[in-house]
Amino acid sequence: MRKLEDKIALVTGAGRGIGRAIAEKLASEGAHVVLNDLDGGPVQETADAVRGLGRKAVVVAGDVTRPELPEALVAAAVSELGGLDILVNNAGYSWDGVIQKTTDEQFDAMLDIHVRAPFRILRAAAGPIRDLVKREAERGLEVHRKVVNISSIGGLYGNAGQVGYSSAKTALIGMTKTLAKEWGRYRVNVNCVAFGLIETRMTQAFEHGGGKHKVGDREVAMGVPQSFLDAMKTTIPLGRAGTPDDAAGAVYLFCLPEADYITGEVVLVSGGLVI
Ligand SMILES: NC(=O)c1ccc[n+]([C@@H]2O[C@H](COP(=O)([O-])OP(=O)(O)OC[C@H]3O[C@@H](n4cnc5c(N)ncnc54)[C@H](O)[C@@H]3O)[C@@H](O)[C@H]2O)c1
Repeated sequence: MRKLEDKIALVTGAGRGIGRAIAEKLASEGAHVVLNDLDGGPVQETADAVRGLGRKAVVVAGDVTRPELPEALVAAAVSELGGLDILVNNAGYSWDGVIQKTTDEQFDAMLDIHVRAPFRILRAAAGPIRDLVKREAERGLEVHRKVVNISSIGGLYGNAGQVGYSSAKTALIGMTKTLAKEWGRYRVNVNCVAFGLIETRMTQAFEHGGGKHKVGDREVAMGVPQSFLDAMKTTIPLGRAGTPDDAAGAVYLFCLPEADYITGEVVLVSGGLVI
């Protein structure tokens, strides 16, 4: 019996990078998954991988910042897969700039994706979770559910050049702690994983093209200088950037039954970059 056998999970931003690795990890441990991403092609590939592991996958493609998406995601989990046990707010991107060059549009975009979308998804999940818990209680069952919000080292310590991103990722920690207090009575463990440097599209070297993300009609460039990546290898005690699988492993730990008494916590997953 696998640890997450027949749990129902929902992962946003599951088309690539960390979100895809999380979806595949949860599925490999037995979960069925509702998958969201802005980009339909990549998220279908994740769905194929989940099905290849013998688990069910439901795709709800679209921009999580659109007001109707959160309800649709939760409804897909409950009506198509029969419940909601694990919810991972992962979708994100960075639109960087020092404060004097950061526009209102840019700052709002960071709050929309990293704060407003998780808030709406969790709000949409509140009623269905309450109903599921009530029905379980009537049958004498007590089931732990898991929310894992994805923050960043920038949300814990700030990062020069990322005023919008860091502010938003800090707000997500506040949301995590608040929901841990509100939902303890429903046995929902609400935790946060803050990543350091993980090798994905977001952290590609500019010299190799960097990453690109479409925001409305705009294409936002993401990435870091190669010199920064090289310096990190000597600064990170474990001697390397993390992989998406490293990142997914940390999220998985919070989803385990062994973590049923851990809530409201933020774990930094950075290879020891900040200790
Ligand atoms: N890579 C890192 O070093 C790092 C560090 C700290 C935190 N994070 C966080 O990890 C999460 C995943 O990032 P990643 O590194 O895997 O990046 P990534 O670009 O590889 O993947 C992010 C995914 O989210 C999707 N996405 C973006 N905006 C969306 C939207 N509005 N609606 C739906 N999907 C959307 C993208 O299409 C993409 O597939 C993000 O929240 C990011 O802020 C990453």
